Amino acid sequence: MASFRLKLGVNIDHVATLRQARGTSYPSVTEAARACEEAGCDGITVHLREDRRHIQDEDVQSLRRMLRVPLNLEMAAVPEIVRFACRVRPEECCLVPERRRELTTEGGLDVVGWGAVLVRAVRRLLEAGIRVSLFVDPDPDQIRAAAETGAPCIELHTGRYCDAREPARGRELERLIQGAKLAHALKLQVNAGHGINLANVGGILEIPHLDTLNIGHSIVARAIFVGLKAAVREMRHALRTYAGGRV
Ligand code: PXP
Repeated sequence: MASFRLKLGVNIDHVATLRQARGTSYPSVTEAARACEEAGCDGITVHLREDRRHIQDEDVQSLRRMLRVPLNLEMAAVPEIVRFACRVRPEECCLVPERRRELTTEGGLDVVGWGAVLVRAVRRLLEAGIRVSLFVDPDPDQIRAAAETGAPCIELHTGRYCDAREPARGRELERLIQGAKLAHALKLQVNAGHGINLANVGGILEIPHLDTLNIGHSIVARAIFVGLKAAVREMRHALRTYAGGRV
């Protein structure tokens, strides 16, 4: 089987988490992004949360100016943030659900229930020249609904697979594989992310039709011990065997 270059988007939210913990000017999000680029990442992802707990508006603006690789902005489909995205115009926006008290994005979007709101947000972003992705669980109804919004891309939520133990883990992986096949048949680009680390990425590589993995927390955590460039290179190395998954 031919091998594909599976792209790695590095989420650097938690560089900002460290900065915000003390209200300092360091560590620099742009310096971190540059290090990731130099280590061979294919994109930089940040999540501008409504509560601004880590990434700030100015971070997104600075990244937009300095990055050589594409910027992927994760965001809720709320008017304030959609307006901001249309002004800053990152290459890509990934729409995610957001609850203020959650530790991280805990589930995929309810595209079935929130179709009209999402269709409006997708249209506005596409009109601004931004590629749009919807973050969804590997649920066939949600994937079909995502295709109907006009978004060209989905990101499969891998969190349940990553957190599960056997035998549930095998079932979660199978859901991701079937979800990716369905999305591909619907002509959607398929990305995946959430909870991926060096220990669980092997299973992720069995998912077919993947374009990009977005990985953040484990890379930034690993960087404490080996440095950010080495942490990115380790993950890049782990992706090198991707052969298109279990098609
Ligand atoms: N993709 C999406 C849509 C996310 O919300 C997140 C977390 O911000 C990630 C990927 C990265 O997840 P993690 O930090 O667990 O690697």
